[in-house]
Amino acid sequence: EQRPILIEGPMPIEAEAFADRLENVEKEASGIYDFYIGTVDDYPVIVVKTSKGMENAAAATAVAIERYNPVAIISQGTSGGHDPSLNVFDIVLGKRTVNIGALKTRNREDNEGIEPTEWIPMDLMASEGSAGEDPDAENIRYYEADEDLLAAANAVKDKHTKGKVVEGTIGSADVWNNEVDRIKWFHETFGTSVEEMETASAAQIAKAYEVPFLGVRILSNNKTNDGEYNPDTATANQEYVYEVVKEYIATY
Ligand code: 5AD
Repeated sequence: EQRPILIEGPMPIEAEAFADRLENVEKEASGIYDFYIGTVDDYPVIVVKTSKGMENAAAATAVAIERYNPVAIISQGTSGGHDPSLNVFDIVLGKRTVNIGALKTRNREDNEGIEPTEWIPMDLMASEGSAGEDPDAENIRYYEADEDLLAAANAVKDKHTKGKVVEGTIGSADVWNNEVDRIKWFHETFGTSVEEMETASAAQIAKAYEVPFLGVRILSNNKTNDGEYNPDTATANQEYVYEVVKEYIATY
């Protein structure tokens, strides 16, 4: 029995182009999560349309692991640049993934205001104790890419012709940042290459079940260098991830 490869995409434009490339497709649903169950090169591959955001990504990942026992998971879709050297249509392979909504504020009393640049990254998985009190929780939790998935992605870099493909850090939270100074703060504090709203959440659940994981995110916008939003990036990313999947099937 071959265990399927799971491909996740949040919006219809981020999932359906890949689903259209599957052969022998059957559709199943669990809640709002649509699963397209098919094959690529006679190997089982499942595409799940997760909807947007951290909670949907986590739930869809857990449901998929319980129902389909995937051998590997790729979370893919669009993102916003945090690195001014990256342009719309460039692709970031998430060597690391981090939840940039996991923060602890400093102590400030009544009328002492709000100072977001002083906030401290927080690691909810540091211990089973209170993250507010535990000094070990004042730490950044990175989820590392699976080496074989990353190698497969690097091996087919040249298939993406509309931009470059680089390794980097994907930051996730249910926030869309348009303040350039705040984006810079994330870039400096967490080392983020891009931001989006799903990868770290899916990575955390994949890690909880020890399923190999990789995030692959194309820039659809980059506020740091006036890169304007382009929805066509969503399809380009799925075309690249399709090549990654074929390489992974052929090699591993
Ligand atoms: N900030 C946050 N999310 C973004 N996305 C694309 N660009 C950005 C950005 N600059 C993705 C998220 C989410 C949807 C809003 O698009 O992952 O699914």
